[in-house]
Amino acid sequence: MSAGAVQAALAAAYGLGAIGQRPFLSLFSVVATATVLAVFARTGAILRRTDRNTDRIQRLHEELYRVERRTASWEELGESRHEECLRAVSDSRARMEQEFRLVEKRFSSLDRAVHDTHAQTEAFVDLRALVQPRAPLPPLGGWAASAGVLRPMIGWILDNGPKTIVECGSGSSSVWLGYIAERTGSAVVALEHDADHARATRELVRAHGLSDVVEVRLAPLEEWESGGETWRWYARDALEGLAEIGLIFVDGPPGATGPTARYPALPLLLPLCAETVAVFLDDAAREQDRAVSDRWAAEFPELVRSRHRGEKGLDTFMRSRT
Ligand SMILES: C[S@@+](CC[C@H](N)C(=O)[O-])C[C@H]1O[C@@H](n2cnc3c(N)ncnc32)[C@H](O)[C@@H]1O
Repeated sequence: MSAGAVQAALAAAYGLGAIGQRPFLSLFSVVATATVLAVFARTGAILRRTDRNTDRIQRLHEELYRVERRTASWEELGESRHEECLRAVSDSRARMEQEFRLVEKRFSSLDRAVHDTHAQTEAFVDLRALVQPRAPLPPLGGWAASAGVLRPMIGWILDNGPKTIVECGSGSSSVWLGYIAERTGSAVVALEHDADHARATRELVRAHGLSDVVEVRLAPLEEWESGGETWRWYARDALEGLAEIGLIFVDGPPGATGPTARYPALPLLLPLCAETVAVFLDDAAREQDRAVSDRWAAEFPELVRSRHRGEKGLDTFMRSRT
């Protein structure tokens, strides 16, 4: 029974005269006090439960805040990781493209090398058929003239029989030219700026029994000035007695001795040349020798220039007045 019902029953009993006023008031106040205490107790319990719930809500709120912060940093991390991945992908793509271009370049230079080796072999077989060497032939290519350069030059000598052949820069070519000059009755004069190389070439020439055909002249480099420009070229003393030059092979001085090192060959040797003359400029694909070739073409228009492809490039300048 509830406190309200007890109070109602007490009021009814008092009204019917079943209990007196004093007991009624005592009992009624006891019930009222018990009711108030019960309400206090319930309120305390509710307040304690509310406190617990408030704590829990507070903890949940803090937890949610932490989760939110973690989620936000994951998102940021995700975004920066994404950008990092994109950068890595684009970097590797750029590197791959670079590698691909490099491989392509290597393939094309390999292709050129194979093609060139084939052309040099063909030229060498042709040349080898033209000489009966009296000693092992010196190697061609590298520092020495290549077979691809010697073949057209030797072909021209066989066709035109020049009286004098001058080569700038001695070596293997002196021997090969010597064998052909022996057949055509030509004389070879090889200008050499370096004393050791001059000695080595003379020895080579002697070993092949060509000393009567090939003369190696030591001509240290000395200054030559023209139009305000200065070059270092073979000593002019070494040109003494040269006349009726029918072929000039320009294969020296080495490029390292100065820019456009080979330019003086034409202005200095052309006045000593026969009416019919051929000039062979080796290494014409090199930048500095291309410049020499262009300058000759501009300054000596009476010479017809032809450009030949090949390992190091070859330009020829011809004059024919017969
Ligand atoms: C291109 S080489 C001349 C090569 C020559 N016409 C031949 O076919 O053998 C030009 C000059 O380089 C020098 N030379 C030759 N062979 C060399 C070598 N292996 N190392 C450094 N210099 C060299 C010599 O002084 C030569 O006159």
